[in-house]
Amino acid sequence: MNVKIFEKAEQLNQYAATFITQQIKIKPNLKMGMATGRTPIGLYEELVRQHIAGALSFSQVSMYNLDEYIGLPRQHDQSFYSFMKRHLINHIDVKRHNLHIPNGSVANMNEEADRYDKLLLQAEQLDLQILGIGTNGHIGFNEPDQKLIGGTHVVELTNETKWANSKDFEKAEDVPSYAITMGLRDIMRSKKILFIALGKEKAEIIQEAFEGNISTWCPGSLLQLHPDIMVLLDKEAASLLTYNKSPC
Ligand code: GLP
Repeated sequence: MNVKIFEKAEQLNQYAATFITQQIKIKPNLKMGMATGRTPIGLYEELVRQHIAGALSFSQVSMYNLDEYIGLPRQHDQSFYSFMKRHLINHIDVKRHNLHIPNGSVANMNEEADRYDKLLLQAEQLDLQILGIGTNGHIGFNEPDQKLIGGTHVVELTNETKWANSKDFEKAEDVPSYAITMGLRDIMRSKKILFIALGKEKAEIIQEAFEGNISTWCPGSLLQLHPDIMVLLDKEAASLLTYNKSPC
């Protein structure tokens, strides 16, 4: 596993953005898996900067988001659809028909999960999955459990996740209880994974995920099995690692 540790989040974001730019230069029609949350915001800002500077075009890139809350209209400020528009999509030249985000506001969520799964099957294999992690080890919205589901599915969010994400909502009770998420099979099928974690509140779970046992109770630990994952951490998130240290 390739673990890189950065003094500052800005350096990490620049490194990650340069890596993505290179991947798009090699393959202009790159199929990217996209993450939300506070962690990738700086990376997306950097990608937007590089696009505006003329160094990067997304005109042939396609994007597949990991997950979405259930019950929020797409226009809601805290839907991941709005997040993607606000932080990335509105500022770059990606084509609308190449953007894929599960819809959390349709009547039949199981049908929506099937639709999204078929879409991922048609895509065959994503080239690059951007990934963060929840403080309880969730990836996408695959929450810790005694079993994990391979395909896109509906999930009940844990109290820890709802609490962590309540910072983005006006009131804690506004956080939806359910979400739709890409499953572990599709995440693990991606050719490459670009994993990012920032801040000391992620230190414990980073140690558990990358140096602990592989367990469905820490979905992020399954990433130890991926053949091509790059783990980018700031020094706070890396602070509890004991042997996986290679400062940049
Ligand atoms: C979110 C997303 C995940 C993300 C995680 C951590 O809600 N479903 O894809 O990695 O929770 O979020 P943050 O980056 O805000 O800590």
